Amino acid sequence: MTSRNQSTAHHAQGGITIVVGAQWGDEGKGKWIDWIAGGADIVARYQGGNNAGHTLYIKGQKVVLHQVPSGIFHAGQTCVLAAGVVINPGELVRETAKVAPYAKVTPDNLWLSARAHVITPWHVATDGRREAQREASSGSAIGTTRRGIGPTYSDKTARSGLRLGDYVNTQARKNWIATMASASEEFARNLETNASDWAAFAAAAQQLAPFVCDAEARVRAAAANGKKILMEGAQGTLLDLDHGTFPFVTSSSTIAAGACASLGIPPRAVSGIYGIAKAYLTRVGAGPFPTELTDQTGDAIRERGQEFGATTGRPRRCGWFDAVAMRYAQDVNGFDGVILNKFDILSGMDELKIAVAYEHPELGRIDQFPWDPEVLAACKPVYKTFKGWHGELPKQGGIESLPEAAREYIKAIEQSSGIKVVAAGTGPGRDEALLGGDLQRLVTLDA
Ligand code: GDP
Ligand code: IMO
Ligand code: MG
Repeated sequence: MTSRNQSTAHHAQGGITIVVGAQWGDEGKGKWIDWIAGGADIVARYQGGNNAGHTLYIKGQKVVLHQVPSGIFHAGQTCVLAAGVVINPGELVRETAKVAPYAKVTPDNLWLSARAHVITPWHVATDGRREAQREASSGSAIGTTRRGIGPTYSDKTARSGLRLGDYVNTQARKNWIATMASASEEFARNLETNASDWAAFAAAAQQLAPFVCDAEARVRAAAANGKKILMEGAQGTLLDLDHGTFPFVTSSSTIAAGACASLGIPPRAVSGIYGIAKAYLTRVGAGPFPTELTDQTGDAIRERGQEFGATTGRPRRCGWFDAVAMRYAQDVNGFDGVILNKFDILSGMDELKIAVAYEHPELGRIDQFPWDPEVLAACKPVYKTFKGWHGELPKQGGIESLPEAAREYIKAIEQSSGIKVVAAGTGPGRDEALLGGDLQRLVTLDA
């Protein structure tokens, strides 16, 4: 058993490891990144913004991180928000204050990419307005977190956004605001009606300025010097802008390839890619979800698993494990291994199901995750049923210490999804981790 309580000296051999959510987010990335980060020198968030909510337990205290990378609680490490991230400055300042009792945040251990785009009060307002418009026109909003994520990425792709490096430069920031106000009456109105939000927005620039740098160049230099880099994904594969269940997705590239684009590192430099999945499935917000359980079983999973959004508090939709979606995540990301999380939540159920294929009323049996959300919405899962297990699960040790029924369940998931399960989560705490023999590379982060 490898303990993460040992202090981790810097290792001679470097490597770049990417950790990706394999489902619709909230798989337990925060807990596992915190655990894996014990072997890293640098932990970099590569996309998303404060739509993410990553939960960790530090000294028994629950901490939810929205923007600060989940490696911040390891002394001697550097955390990075890379170019592909969007940053809400005021929220980031508040978050660094929140973690202050556990971790000192300085420009030495938090690097903010000058290339990252900034979420302004205007973007937050626009997110809410667009959701209301969607609801009014089609009756179906996306169910975004209303944190301004979509509008900020829209302005980035339209090449009209504000980058962090310009935001912390008072004149550049003022110029950007003036340009936007002259282009859009609504923006100008927002400036007037939300004057206090904009004043706070400007004030945060002074606080963040010392942290802003060419973070990507620094990370590349560190990698060349043999440092170990851990890339932390937010959201999950099925929420990816290109490969997820569009339009019910987030606005960034959540998949493993997105990490390379965000950090500006050559894909061939990556030495390991790991997925994190729940042993069942959840989704927050709207969009198709073939294995969703809208009955008592779904309610029981939600209650036991405390499946309520870490960012918005919304109840998460719960359902059975979907091997079709998992196979797709494996294909898209090329995982070296997958961590299967929250096994303890399934304890006490008499039987468990895994969707191994879909049945569509017109198209018949479907084995591949469809690109069309309407097709996906019409799919009924083809289930295989498994015997459940009862009682408290071990919190430490190897995967082989799980009850036989749980091991059979893992084997079935591996076979039906083509993944390799390298660890199992049996509790929210940092050390509540059951490891498989193949986890060694992930633990040491060796190239
Ligand atoms: P993230 O967004 O992927 O970091 O996941 P969230 O933090 O949004 O949601 C995961 C939830 O499950 C959090 O409340 C965690 O504390 C909790 N959690 C993580 N791993 C486990 C586990 O193995 N068992 C249990 N019971 N809870 C877990
Ligand atoms: P973590 O990192 C789960 C969902 C929202 C909505 C859609 C678009 O904690 O796993 P957005 O605000 O991004 O425009 O919303 O994506 N969503 C998440 N669901 N976990 C997340 O992050 C999410 N971030 C966004 O609920 O359906
Ligand atoms: Mg979350």
